[in-house]
Amino acid sequence: MQKFIINGGKKMFGTINISGSKNATLPILAASILSDKKIILSNVPMVKDVLTMAKLLSSMGSTINVLKKKKKIEIKNKKKLKTYASYKLLKTMRAGILVLGPLLARYKKAKVSLPGGCAIGSRPIDLHLSALQKMGASLNIKDGYIQASVPNGLVGATIKFPKISVGATENILIAACFAEGSTMMHNCACEPEVLDLSKFLTKMGCNINWIGKRCVKIVGVKKIKPTNHAVIFDRIEAGTYIIAAAITNGNVIIMNVNPKLMRNEIDTFVKMGIKILKKKNKLIVKPSYEINKINLKTEPYPGFPTDLQAQTMVLMCRANGLSTIKENIFENRFMHVSELNRMGANIRIKGNKALIRGNVEFDGAEIMATDLRASVSLVLAGLISNKKTIINRIYHLDRGYENLETKLSKCGVSVKRLEDGK
Ligand code: EPZ
Repeated sequence: MQKFIINGGKKMFGTINISGSKNATLPILAASILSDKKIILSNVPMVKDVLTMAKLLSSMGSTINVLKKKKKIEIKNKKKLKTYASYKLLKTMRAGILVLGPLLARYKKAKVSLPGGCAIGSRPIDLHLSALQKMGASLNIKDGYIQASVPNGLVGATIKFPKISVGATENILIAACFAEGSTMMHNCACEPEVLDLSKFLTKMGCNINWIGKRCVKIVGVKKIKPTNHAVIFDRIEAGTYIIAAAITNGNVIIMNVNPKLMRNEIDTFVKMGIKILKKKNKLIVKPSYEINKINLKTEPYPGFPTDLQAQTMVLMCRANGLSTIKENIFENRFMHVSELNRMGANIRIKGNKALIRGNVEFDGAEIMATDLRASVSLVLAGLISNKKTIINRIYHLDRGYENLETKLSKCGVSVKRLEDGK
């Protein structure tokens, strides 16, 4: 396994190019199952989860070509795909469950591993399954697999999600594209990544109309067109680097972003005292010597994203007083707190609320990464630690951050990747 060695205390100075969004790429790759025409995806982040999804599609017989240097993926599903998604691949990349909807929609059957839980929570998929059942699918769970079939094909239905779910919205959005008749979905997730999937499906020839912020109508189609699509930028990666620039009092230009899709995040950071200039496709972060305390809560988009919660905690450790953050999306997304406290933070947990004492000096430590966003919060703490920080199990980071150490090092920060034992 590999680790990071970080020598903190340096100001960031330079330009960071934001990659394409992992959380837009994954459902778009799953949706490619619907198509028998050529698909070219660009601005694809070459991160582990995307490569795992490509491996999953290839294991199903998809002709998929990953062009790493060009950040492109080309797909051409000539022949019928296998309708089986193995635990071996899904256990490391839960988003594999997103192949269930498209497999049922196109092939009327599927055997997909239950994705299981992960560090941040039990991650149930009941909303995905109940919606597919409403569309006529019969589902049987046996030996850790979902055996699904719908011999006469999925039929459009009215789906009212009792809870907002990004994955369930995406799975049903894709499935409904080939269902008989029309499907109305209510209380949908409307993250930019969901809308980018919707844009990709529409380019493919699907009939999708967003009637309200959380309401969408899909009319099933039979024909699909060849499709080219550039994946949107990764707003969570962009938020992470805004925080990195702010806590190091750096001067950083963050390129390839659309500030309009990050309103809440940017407004929150500005309220906390970060100096951010918004331009058409970039953000300029200037030194902000005073960080203000704040009370935050995570919410579905357009609220403050849970995927920036861990990173914002590090920013709060530098604020002038006591901040709080309420985690309303996942039941166990404070795994980073114990590691941050070992580095010198003073964070207490009360139920789903964290109380973060400000004006903290981080000492550095040897720590262990647990999940993707928790891991990057440890990197951020390492950037402002007085002593060396060693972060073990950085494969978590490689799942969702493209060239992290290169992007940081180009801005004057000392982050080295080493094999364990070195
Ligand atoms: C997506 O996960 C993202 N992953 C997550 O990002 C992100 O944190 C999450 O949305 C929330 O924004 C991808 O897009 C690949 P949900 P997803 O369904 O779809 C509960 C990262 O770091 N729920 O919106 O799994 C669930 O337990 C990852 O990039 C059910 O109860 O999230 C959670 O409490 C982490 N039943 C809440 O809903 C279901 O059937 C929101 O989950 C589905 C979800």
